[in-house]
Amino acid sequence: MASRFPFPIPFGWFCVALEAELEPGELVAANYFGRDLVIWRSELGEFAVSDAFCPHLGAHLAVGGKVHGDQLVCPFHAWEFNAAGACTNIPYSDRLNQKAKLRVYPVTVRNGFVFAWYHPHDEEPSWEIPAMDEVVDPAWTDYYSFSYTIKTAAQEMSENGADPAHFKYVHGTDTVAELVSYDTGGTTSTMLSKQSYVTPKGVEWGRIDVYNHGPGFSQVYFEIPGLVEAWNLATTSPIDAETTQVRFNFIVKRHESAEFTDVIAKAFVKEINKQICEDTPIWENKVFLQVPSLADTDGPILKFRKWYSQFYAA
Ligand code: FES
Ligand SMILES: [Fe+2]
Repeated sequence: MASRFPFPIPFGWFCVALEAELEPGELVAANYFGRDLVIWRSELGEFAVSDAFCPHLGAHLAVGGKVHGDQLVCPFHAWEFNAAGACTNIPYSDRLNQKAKLRVYPVTVRNGFVFAWYHPHDEEPSWEIPAMDEVVDPAWTDYYSFSYTIKTAAQEMSENGADPAHFKYVHGTDTVAELVSYDTGGTTSTMLSKQSYVTPKGVEWGRIDVYNHGPGFSQVYFEIPGLVEAWNLATTSPIDAETTQVRFNFIVKRHESAEFTDVIAKAFVKEINKQICEDTPIWENKVFLQVPSLADTDGPILKFRKWYSQFYAA
């Protein structure tokens, strides 16, 4: 079967773990970017990400390997590697093999997420992931976190946000968000929308503001007047060119009553999680059309695609 998508894995910062998933001194196997990886944490707590296979004779470093201080130790012949991927010790030789190098990925920890920078030609990171004050502000709840693995390309999922027309037909929403502005001038895109809600006091206008920082991290702000103020910190990570992991991490502004906050938060995240389950069968079976036949009232799909295309290496 031909590939459903004409694009490779994009480059950028991608979430490979939640910070809380690894204690200092632990390691774990992972699959992202079409590669086998090991994510590990030094005994002082620093995260590192590298390819999983030892350059000596190919053992999987996360299967029986361990962390010793700030070194990763291979389970097969106990060679040691540092976070930069260099071999620092061959315990049965006085000499080092300078050619024995692990491919490593730059790492940044932000908002409780561990991001690895992937670039097919190993170019350096060219933007940063912003830290959010609300995540550590007691006026907001802790995360409500969810993870989904979907058989589609990362770009296809992100296009959803530029496609307001589908909300009525896939998600059954009464009203569709109205685009206020869409700025795609850099590696961050900003889409501001307003949405009307029928409340006991009449029609009220809420907000949905989406900030995409490269292809892997989005901040989505929701406001339903008088009821919900929430952020979804969403990460999109390519497992391979046709499989994507999405993590939704919601924080909700607290109401006076903790019980009421929890009821509102759970109802809100249930609705958003329902939507991703409704999108999944569309995404998993559609193809990407390079030249779609659009209606004049469709959303800014082509503008989105142009913005996203900057994340594919030449
Ligand atoms: S395979 Fe890793 S030390 Fe030999
Ligand atoms: Fe959707």
